[in-house]
Amino acid sequence: MSRRTILVTGASAGIGAALARVYASEGWNVVLTARREPPLRALADQIEAAHGVTAAVVTEDLADPAAPERLVATLASRGLTIDGLVNNAGFSRVTGFLQTSLADHRAMLQVMLIAPAELSRLLLPGMVERGFGRVLNVASVAGHLPATGGDTLYGPIKSFLIKASQGLHLETQGTGVHVTVINPGYTLTEFHDVNGSRAEVSKAYPAWMWMTADRVARIGFAACEANRPQVTPGPMNTVLVALARHLPEGLALKMAAGHARRLARI
Ligand SMILES: NC(=O)c1ccc[n+]([C@@H]2O[C@H](COP(=O)([O-])OP(=O)(O)OC[C@H]3O[C@@H](n4cnc5c(N)ncnc54)[C@H](OP(=O)(O)O)[C@@H]3O)[C@@H](O)[C@H]2O)c1
Repeated sequence: MSRRTILVTGASAGIGAALARVYASEGWNVVLTARREPPLRALADQIEAAHGVTAAVVTEDLADPAAPERLVATLASRGLTIDGLVNNAGFSRVTGFLQTSLADHRAMLQVMLIAPAELSRLLLPGMVERGFGRVLNVASVAGHLPATGGDTLYGPIKSFLIKASQGLHLETQGTGVHVTVINPGYTLTEFHDVNGSRAEVSKAYPAWMWMTADRVARIGFAACEANRPQVTPGPMNTVLVALARHLPEGLALKMAAGHARRLARI
């Protein structure tokens, strides 16, 4: 049987790069996309050498509203059939709602909310038609916790992804397509360097609370193969999500405020 091919967004770093390595190690060809070409090319070379699969690179800025359709058209023009999709690209701004530019808010919504929905809508029909597919959405424990001041839209955007994934999981049952959402907690990637909070989060949260991107990726892959609707990696993150479900709202908001204060955001 020919190899399956999976498209991984945000594959130039962190969890996306780790997921690309995991899928390749399981025999999948990978298509890597993000804005930065050099790390994508380096990862593609590394993956091809290590796993003997094909790794293609397509650079795209998912903040551009035209990007999802352009990306899918590029894949088609290269003759690539996409059997799997990892919606992973993402970032946050922790400067506060009013201090964050409209352009940055728009980019967050586009990259983490609209692009995953559009890529799913564009690629799922082919998967359903062929009777096989995998969609793994990378959300966050933040999607389950009360929204925190400072990165006001981030949690709600991840809540959207969790709910949308649950709906898609139900809709695709029995089609051969698995849809899973993973909710990582603190993970060692470039994420907190990009949003400028590395020093604060490292001080506020001890090393044992952090997971590696490789561990998160392995757990996400296994959950999607098992057709689980949702997975939260690590006991600490699992407890946090369970607490958020059961705590009274007032208390949960107080805890969220404590988190924002620890990071000196509000
Ligand atoms: N690290 C954590 O603690 C943590 C916790 C929970 C959830 N998450 C989620 O995990 C996912 C991956 O984050 P990470 O931790 O691996 O962070 P990361 O190391 O900063 O990687 C983020 C990836 O997203 C890509 N990206 C960002 N903006 C993009 C854009 N406009 N267009 C295309 N690609 C873009 C980046 O590539 P380029 O810069 O090359 O475009 C990079 O490949 C995100 O959705 C994040 O919300 C992370």
